[in-house]
Amino acid sequence: MTQQYRITLLPGDGIGPEIIPVAVAALKAVGKQFDLQFEFQEALVGGAAIDETGNPLPEETLEMCRNSDQVLLAAIGGYKWDTLPRHQRPETGLLALREGLQLFANLRPAMVLPQLIDASTLKRDVVEGTDIMVVRELTGGIYFGKPKGIFATETGEQRGVNTMAYTEAEIDRIGKVAYDIARKRRGKLCSVDKANVLDVSQLWRDRITALSSQYPDVELSHLYVDNAAMQLIRNPKQFDTIVTGNLFGDILSDEAAMLTGSIGMLPSASLGASGLGLYEPVHGSAPDIAGQDKANPLAQVLSAAMMLRYGLGQPAAADRIERAVMQVLDAGYRTGDIMSEGMQLVGCQAMSDALLAALEA
Ligand code: IPM
Ligand code: MG
Repeated sequence: MTQQYRITLLPGDGIGPEIIPVAVAALKAVGKQFDLQFEFQEALVGGAAIDETGNPLPEETLEMCRNSDQVLLAAIGGYKWDTLPRHQRPETGLLALREGLQLFANLRPAMVLPQLIDASTLKRDVVEGTDIMVVRELTGGIYFGKPKGIFATETGEQRGVNTMAYTEAEIDRIGKVAYDIARKRRGKLCSVDKANVLDVSQLWRDRITALSSQYPDVELSHLYVDNAAMQLIRNPKQFDTIVTGNLFGDILSDEAAMLTGSIGMLPSASLGASGLGLYEPVHGSAPDIAGQDKANPLAQVLSAAMMLRYGLGQPAAADRIERAVMQVLDAGYRTGDIMSEGMQLVGCQAMSDALLAALEA
């Protein structure tokens, strides 16, 4: 029986409108092979939405996302909107989308591909074989904690405030996602916090530790975030699954991404309790190369594969896409961000053509 899925596409800004069609084409190609039918609907978010409606996340967009099976996002932001007041920034739209869809678990894999090992700024023997999953809490912590804002003190001086707060329930639900993922990987979970200084982190550590009795097959360790940042560069292979809060996860996932050589290759998934998820490349909107056919569409394509795997329960179709990505890399095709000597430099369109050829072969 044909499976039908309604997918909301959010191309956003910058290179978004160039890379989303590549993922759509890849989905259609595997759809034919695996009897999956996709109905795509497009909506505005980020700067594109600000220009059109004045709001980085229009209500129609949120509604459309809620009325779909899964959401595929490219990227938001650009210089043009950087000086607007905070409620009108593209980033505010992204945060509102995560909050509005209650996507509390952000999965950011950082896998060093053998084909791209020399693109890493670190030595080959340090990064070779690295395969890390960062599980970042996405709807709590200092990003959303209250009080927040810039307030005048009694002396009239301004004071900026954000609050890092987690409840037991928030820690437990992200902890369970992370343990479940670690269990399906190599059975190692490292929780990252700052429990030597922060009370919120002490509660985090206590709850993650308490959960471990339910996961006797998962080996739990803890690191302070400063040490974790160092260990990621010193010996990334010691890590399997990392679980951490919103801010530490934001920082460490960029660091982990760079181990792989190019942030242009990395997908991510943001999941909630409802089954609806949002899938997006880790990289940004790259306004400096937008509209020039230079973008690397592979992280977007791999995000579509994550959607198939985690959102739609179609692992075979996900494997098929991931295999095609490996094939184009094996064949030597490289966009500028992953280019190295002896490889063939291609643009977004040519990369897309090569990928589709590999998928249809
Ligand atoms: C990310 C980004 C966002 C974040 C920004 C764009 C709001 O850095 O997805 O990691 O801080 O979460
Ligand atoms: Mg970030």
